[in-house]
Amino acid sequence: MRESLLHQMGPGELLVLAGTYAYLLFTFLPTMIAFSTIIVSLGAIYYHLNDYNEYWHKKGVPGPKGNILFGSMLEMLKSINEFDERNVKKYGKTFGTIINGVPDLLSQDLDFIKQIVIKNFDSFPDRPNISKSKLEDIRESFLTIKQGDDWRRIRHRITPAFTSGKMKKLLPAMNYCSNELVKYLDQYAKSGNDVPLKDALSKLTMNVIGRTVFAADLNTFNDKEDSPFLYYAKKMFDIKLFSPTVLFVISFPNISGWFARLTGRVLMQNDIFQYFTTSLNEIMDQRLKDPDAPQKYNDAFQLLLNSLDGEERVTITSEDADIMSEAVSQVANSREKKTLSRLEVMAQLIIFLAAGYETTASTLHFVCYILSRRPDIQERLRREVLEVLDGREHIEYEDMAKLQYLNQVISETLRMYPPAVRINRLCQKDTEINGIPLEKGNSVSFDVYNIHHDPENYPEPYEFDPDRFSPENKADRHPMAHIPFGAGPRICLGMRFAEFEMRVTLVDLVKNFKFLPSEGMPGLPVPVVTKALLNPAVELKCRIKKI
Ligand code: HEM
Repeated sequence: MRESLLHQMGPGELLVLAGTYAYLLFTFLPTMIAFSTIIVSLGAIYYHLNDYNEYWHKKGVPGPKGNILFGSMLEMLKSINEFDERNVKKYGKTFGTIINGVPDLLSQDLDFIKQIVIKNFDSFPDRPNISKSKLEDIRESFLTIKQGDDWRRIRHRITPAFTSGKMKKLLPAMNYCSNELVKYLDQYAKSGNDVPLKDALSKLTMNVIGRTVFAADLNTFNDKEDSPFLYYAKKMFDIKLFSPTVLFVISFPNISGWFARLTGRVLMQNDIFQYFTTSLNEIMDQRLKDPDAPQKYNDAFQLLLNSLDGEERVTITSEDADIMSEAVSQVANSREKKTLSRLEVMAQLIIFLAAGYETTASTLHFVCYILSRRPDIQERLRREVLEVLDGREHIEYEDMAKLQYLNQVISETLRMYPPAVRINRLCQKDTEINGIPLEKGNSVSFDVYNIHHDPENYPEPYEFDPDRFSPENKADRHPMAHIPFGAGPRICLGMRFAEFEMRVTLVDLVKNFKFLPSEGMPGLPVPVVTKALLNPAVELKCRIKKI
């Protein structure tokens, strides 16, 4: 694919380049010639950028004509789902845009999506990586942005931390954390105060990750001062788009990349990653010195540590085929390096925190809010939960499959409020799909939010109806019509973990509390804003009553 050099620069870099160019011309050439050269150069640049903007039209693919510098990026940033909805109405289910200098094909066509994420996975195995630092840094080692054989190797190595067998072992820790949440919420039931749902459920998901991934008690329900771990973990999610550092990195991406390569320091969130690298290295040293550690610890940390040097086989049963695809398991038979480096182990632990904390808390808080607004669904759910529990305190592994209505409520919540509103893939091999020629370097995006709200897939899409996910109704639906966890070999690795965590928590909540509406809160559907992740337009609260 033709790469546009100008599009690879940030706006700040372009301004500096243009200023230097004009300064040199006016310094060394007579004014008239310098002036004429600038006019000609501007014309040539305009022609080049405009021509690049026609990328998809020249291939016969419709789509909005974006700004010649930013393509459709600025318009999209205002609200991704409104941008997609508007353009699907105008151009159909598949259309082309230029985002940040990269030609991006957006599709809501379910067969097309299946072709990309499953059938032609070989041509679309990776996600685009916009980072220019190319450092041997913890952030460059996250599974989410790893590409090619590196991605296969790491995914193959860490999948055992997420199998059904592993979830069974993590259940007591999840039950413990949800019990802590119930104790924490008891205060709200007693006082009658509104529960700030996102805050309460974020405390839970952080606690679960702490216990199951790092074997650490983060004490998140304690309102005293945060431990350093909790402080930095929270800070990781507190990115202010208009902070000077963020604006600098956006404006000068190449300069920031060079700076990182020269100094070994990344500008954004450096203190956070320094802290995690140091403290995880310390825990790693302690565990590697302890010969009993493999038996003693049951967390993901230990599982990943065991794969530092060993070449032991990774065994996955057919039950876990959804998270370990053929494309990944091939690595087991290859002669490539199969182990993980220390840096890679640390990076995956952090990505579990980053990928699992906010997404799961968001889904759980929407479920609780919906229950407060839909007493009929809440009662039906409670009946099922009490029946399955049959007088026991917590659910057990074997109960998971029996909680059918609970699973339907979670699926419907993820349909209406998918935390990740878009997923994407990078084309790594020129391939033609449905008559559209895709070139290496193109990106392809799928609009999860609008797929989930397309009346062709779900009649009356803004109605909350868990029965859409009854076994009969589900069987008739296209598999790509419900993709909150993505699809294909790169599907969310923590999908089962998140499902277990949500079931355990909701069983305890529904058993212990009645969810009631708070005054002044919006009805259903909840108004949302969709930027990188989906969020409600207002902070959601409800009241609870102890049962
Ligand atoms: C409700 C909760 C969650 C949702 C909705 C969610 C959603 C997603 C989505 C949409 C993707 C991209 C999939 C694709 O491109 O096809 C993804 C990837 C990923 N998720 Fe999740 N996620 C959730 C929870 C978790 C948890 C709890 C963890 C780990 C503890 C996790 C770890 C990951 C990882 C490691 C990837 C990258 C997989 C790869 O590139 O191979 N997620 N997730």
